[in-house]
Amino acid sequence: MKASSVRRIPTSAAVAIGVLLGFFFARLIPWPTSSSPIWRSGHVPSRSHQKSRQQIPLPTTAQRQRILELITTLSPHYTKECTRNSQPLYVQQVLDRYSSLIGFTPPSDRSWLGSLLGFSPDDDHVHVRRSDLSQNTEHKYFFAINLYNSFDVIPDLFATLFRVASILGYHNVFISIYENGSNDQTKALLRIFDALTRSVGMRVMIRTSQRTRGQFNHRIEYLAEVRNSAFVPLHELRDSEGEYFDTIVFMNDILPCVDDLLELIWQSRKNNAGITCAADYMYHSDIGAPVFYDNWVARDINGTALENAPFERIFHHQESSHRFQRHLPTQVQSCWNGIAVLDPAPFYSYPHVQFRMARIVDGECSASECSLICNDYWEAGYGRILMVPRVKLAYDSRVFDIIHPSRRNLTAIRGFVRLGGLPDDPRTDPQDRSWFGPHDRLFTEEESQELNFVPGPDYVWCWGWDGAGDLDGPDVDPVWERMPNKSARADSVVVRHDRSISL
Ligand SMILES: *[C@@H]1O[C@H](CO)[C@@H](O)[C@H](O)[C@H]1NC(C)=O
Ligand SMILES: *[C@@H]1O[C@H](CO)[C@@H](O)[C@H](O)[C@H]1NC(C)=O
Ligand SMILES: *[C@@H]1O[C@H](CO)[C@@H](O)[C@H](O)[C@H]1NC(C)=O
Ligand SMILES: *[C@@H]1O[C@H](CO)[C@@H](O)[C@H](O)[C@H]1NC(C)=O
Repeated sequence: MKASSVRRIPTSAAVAIGVLLGFFFARLIPWPTSSSPIWRSGHVPSRSHQKSRQQIPLPTTAQRQRILELITTLSPHYTKECTRNSQPLYVQQVLDRYSSLIGFTPPSDRSWLGSLLGFSPDDDHVHVRRSDLSQNTEHKYFFAINLYNSFDVIPDLFATLFRVASILGYHNVFISIYENGSNDQTKALLRIFDALTRSVGMRVMIRTSQRTRGQFNHRIEYLAEVRNSAFVPLHELRDSEGEYFDTIVFMNDILPCVDDLLELIWQSRKNNAGITCAADYMYHSDIGAPVFYDNWVARDINGTALENAPFERIFHHQESSHRFQRHLPTQVQSCWNGIAVLDPAPFYSYPHVQFRMARIVDGECSASECSLICNDYWEAGYGRILMVPRVKLAYDSRVFDIIHPSRRNLTAIRGFVRLGGLPDDPRTDPQDRSWFGPHDRLFTEEESQELNFVPGPDYVWCWGWDGAGDLDGPDVDPVWERMPNKSARADSVVVRHDRSISL
């Protein structure tokens, strides 16, 4: 990627749904907000301990743009390409779909977006349902991120977060980064990004640890501690400022596109889901293609492990497999897959979940801290867990390129008269027929329908990791583990905390 092409701000959907939209809106919101945030399950925080933050004028649109340019020119910026040259129908769908996530009051004149996109002001394409917006302006997002030797991903990560936050509202976003003893220049780079993003009013907290794995007896205990550390500010902000968050986004050092994050958030809120995850892929050299990766954590709704296999063989549960292959959100017992969007309620209220290792003395199977938190969500009555197959994630650039192929112009080759799908039937796009099709795959109606959640399985396949030896992964024979009776009851999947987007 040449520096010259990086410097230019693309006029594509990335801009449409991201940067400029946010720049434009964000000018209009005061910082900090004067109204009190409401955690919608009824916990209205007291503002009595609120320290008044110093009122600083917001940076101008041009200043914001300069910051984004700085962030995106510091390294190759892979995720910038995701939404470039998207088919026009997808751009329109994205604008319609995610306008409900816009986290602040937009200007009254609706030609704002059209002019930014280069559309004519009366163009129906750019109509945003403004009536939705007022109820959503106070939804607060807590991003928890664990990094370790992540020099290469930090610029991309921040550029994406910057864009996403420009839609959700900078004042609604808090980013907590926990970095555990990297030995590259991760820390120095983080400080630069911290300063840059603060200058636009995004709150970022970066913590660094020098504790090493050696100080813990059990590998999972250590990993759970690392994850919990990213949540420390969540509890601190509640205790000191009375601030509650409505949605948590937990990320590893992975590179999502802007619309990937928005879709996970959208699905999480649409379904009032306890946990919402993407699908992650890793290259399999025997097969010569990417396969589903995180099968240590992922379990289908029958409790069976997902497979390290191509898309059509990932699920054993037939109905799930069928949904997955059509890119429809699918209920699972457990998943993590690089990014998980969590309902914070079980973190705030009894019975208080947190990342933990297995209670080995009680005979609990030594699963991943991410499997255990899924089990705990079930037991707490937040068993609405779902996987979003549309959102495909990669850990390296080889897989990233395979799962984000650019849209080919088939007009010249085979005489197709259009690019992409038809408005009345999104599945008519010939390029959507392959699993790793272009990123701008049109949304089908079924992808916008709420899932019908069923209670959890009685038994879940668990592959334990004792963590005593040198093995860098599961080292105990797998077992079918009996789940608590609670998680198989109908009320384990009722909506307890309404975070839905009003439509
Ligand atoms: C930091 O945490 C990551 C997992 O998040 C782990 O792979 C790495 O080994 C840890 N670093 C140290 C120094 O223990
Ligand atoms: C696709 O190819 C056709 C024929 O060569 C051309 O007319 C059309 O402009 C191309 N479309 C795009 C979006 O490049
Ligand atoms: C469903 O789970 C049971 C264990 O509860 C297992 O024996 C069975 O093989 C599973 N079925 C599928 C299709 O995975
Ligand atoms: C859970 O259900 C099983 C079978 O239905 C029953 O034998 C067991 O006593 C129950 N456990 C508890 C703690 O209620």
